[in-house]
Amino acid sequence: MKRILVTGAYGQIGTELIGVLRKKYGGENVIATGRKKPPEILTKDGPYYRLDILDENQLHTMLVDHDIDIIIHNASVLSATGERNPQLAYRTNVEGSYNILEAVRILNLDQALIPSSIAAFGPSTPQDNTPNDVIMRPTTMYGVTKVFVELLGEYYTKRYDLDFRSLRYPGVISSEALPGGGTTDYAVEIFYEALKNKKYTSFLAKDAMLPMMYMPDCLKCTVDLMEADASKLVHRSYNITAMSFTPEDIANEIKKHIPEFEIDYEPDFRQEIAETWPRSIDDSVAREEWGWTPDYDLTSMTKDMLEKLSKKLGVKY
Ligand code: SER
Repeated sequence: MKRILVTGAYGQIGTELIGVLRKKYGGENVIATGRKKPPEILTKDGPYYRLDILDENQLHTMLVDHDIDIIIHNASVLSATGERNPQLAYRTNVEGSYNILEAVRILNLDQALIPSSIAAFGPSTPQDNTPNDVIMRPTTMYGVTKVFVELLGEYYTKRYDLDFRSLRYPGVISSEALPGGGTTDYAVEIFYEALKNKKYTSFLAKDAMLPMMYMPDCLKCTVDLMEADASKLVHRSYNITAMSFTPEDIANEIKKHIPEFEIDYEPDFRQEIAETWPRSIDDSVAREEWGWTPDYDLTSMTKDMLEKLSKKLGVKY
């Protein structure tokens, strides 16, 4: 059985990914790590350790002590926080990923899966149906660091035969843990506000269309890519998507369940970030090379989110 270490385990994706991996690989074989005190969900079925990825010695010791085969490096500073603190984003995303790749090389581990993002694209990228292989000149610190991670990982694959894999996550919608510091976070906040207050003020404009994905699909593509047969992977960094919508579209979908729901718009600096990203993504390369296909669209995601979140919040609609 492979032994997997996940960084950023208490983040939006990590929190749910740990559960899925532990079910599949056994609780003791999935090591959750992060810099903070973990929520209970991360400690009940397996180990959680504090880990600072900028501390190379601590990282190497942990990988050796726990006999790790695969690292999923989820710790990252997202787009909005990255614009507030570019230096922090640089250190965490660039130096942290470098440390991970170096550790995987030196200790000869099986695989490093380090996510990328739609933020790796920029204003000169074609915004509709953005292809996998296309110009990438992002204008946010987060985007710059993600292009770096893709290129560095692919360099390590070519130079050292290291098994690097990456997914360009779109905005991810989830009911368990909240996202932190991203431009697509509105698509999660809107559900909490719709259930609690029946109104929401969007920090993105009415027509800001972005690629998105529901958490079950996000977990599925992460595990599928991790498990994909290496001989099938021509690329190493993959576009993935499930749907594209605007704040107005998602509000209209929510109104089908909560007719009195109201939305207004007060775009802030995150709107400028959104304008530089793709509106929709062509993920045919992931579909061809490792069989990616999403299960949820806007309609099924909205229905499921409202059901799950209303139970969690104890609010009827
Ligand atoms: N959800 C991320 C963000 O908004 C995109 O990868 O920063």
